[in-house]
Formats: sequence, structure tokens, C-alpha cells
Amino acid sequence: MKKLVIATNNAHKLEEIREMLGDGYEILGLADIGCDVDIPETAPTIEGNAEMKARYVQEHYGLDCFSDDTGLEIDALGGEPGVHSARYGGVAHDSERNIDKVLRLMADVPLERRTARFRTAIALLQAGVLHRFEGRVEGRILTERHGTGGFGYDSIFQPAEGDGRTFAQMDAHEKNAISHRGRAVAALVEYLNSQP
Ligand code: IMP
Repeated sequence: MKKLVIATNNAHKLEEIREMLGDGYEILGLADIGCDVDIPETAPTIEGNAEMKARYVQEHYGLDCFSDDTGLEIDALGGEPGVHSARYGGVAHDSERNIDKVLRLMADVPLERRTARFRTAIALLQAGVLHRFEGRVEGRILTERHGTGGFGYDSIFQPAEGDGRTFAQMDAHEKNAISHRGRAVAALVEYLNSQP
């Protein structure tokens, strides 16, 4: 079986990929290969960060690897928070502060100019060759939170192709079917499953 590392410790991400890939690959997380460092993510783009993490694993552990990085791009904010999505409010992974900042900055922005998208970049390093995959979902930023599911900016993001609910009002299955990450992972899985 071919070994493939995902540059994450998120058990949920690992499980999701294992289910989608079937039996052809042994999927390992960072903990499985004994990597407990915070891999640097200092590139100016999500594509750069995804590549940086995958290269780190390949250089230090000599294993094929893929990595994903996601950003929320809000048009009225010139594409921010983008690559800064995780710590936009000043504290890493504090979603409430991140959302508060977005809502504050957009207080005067009318509904028709509140367009935004989530974009996920995946970098796969296989036998030293870099392959890139992307997934995106268009939508808009609401003026207040709706729903309690999901994580991150889900409660203020209303996907354009849905029925008016935010991601935080959908179950995981519904969200994954149209989400940025779901689509990027589907493109990656299609590629991997087409390999001999
Ligand atoms: P990561 O690259 O997956 O760690 O995502 C970076 C940041 O983007 C996270 O800390 C969240 O704030 C935000 N984010 C990523 N994916 C989602 C999502 O599916 N819903 C809402 N926010 C997300």
C-alpha cells in the first residue's frame, strides 16, 4: 500500500480522507510520523502555505505528503482576511474575534456588495513532483451570526448555491458537498484514485 502523509493533526480531516480514498493508500497524520512541531506557514498566499507544509514533511521525513490551506476572501475588504483567516481578530483560531472584526469592518457595506468566497489550496508532493488542487465556494457575508454548527466563519457565510442557510445551519454532509475543502479534496482524491 502507498503511504501518504497529510500535514495535519486534525483527526476529523484524516478520517474524511481515509473514507474517500478507499484501500489504495495508507493515510498518516503528523502524529503518526512523530512530527510534533508547528510547521511554519509564513507564505503570502494559501497556495504558498500549503506547499511549504508539504515540502517540510518531504524534506524531514522523506514521505509523499499533501497539505491544505484555506482562506475566506471578502471582496469589500480587498480579499481579506484571505491567508490571514485563522488569526484575523488578533488571536490564532479565535473564531468569535475573527467574526467580530469582519462584522465591524463591514458594518456599512450593503448586501449586494457583501460577496465573498472560501478557497482551499491543496499541495501534493508525490515522488518529488508538486501537484496543486483547488476548491472554492461563492457566497456572501451576512450582517449577523446564524446557526451554531461548523467552525470558523461558518455562521456568517451564506453559500450562493444553497437555500439561504449559512454553513453553520447545515449538517457536515450538506456542507461538504458544496464546500471549498470538500471540492478540493474531491479533486485530489479523483487524481489519486486514477493513479495506477
Ligand atoms: P485552515 O487552513 O484549514 O487551518 O483554515 C484557516 C482558517 O480559515 C481557519 O482557522 C478558519 O478561521 C477559516 N476556515 C477554514 N475552513 C473553514 C470553513 O470550512 N468554515 C469556516 N471557516 C473556515
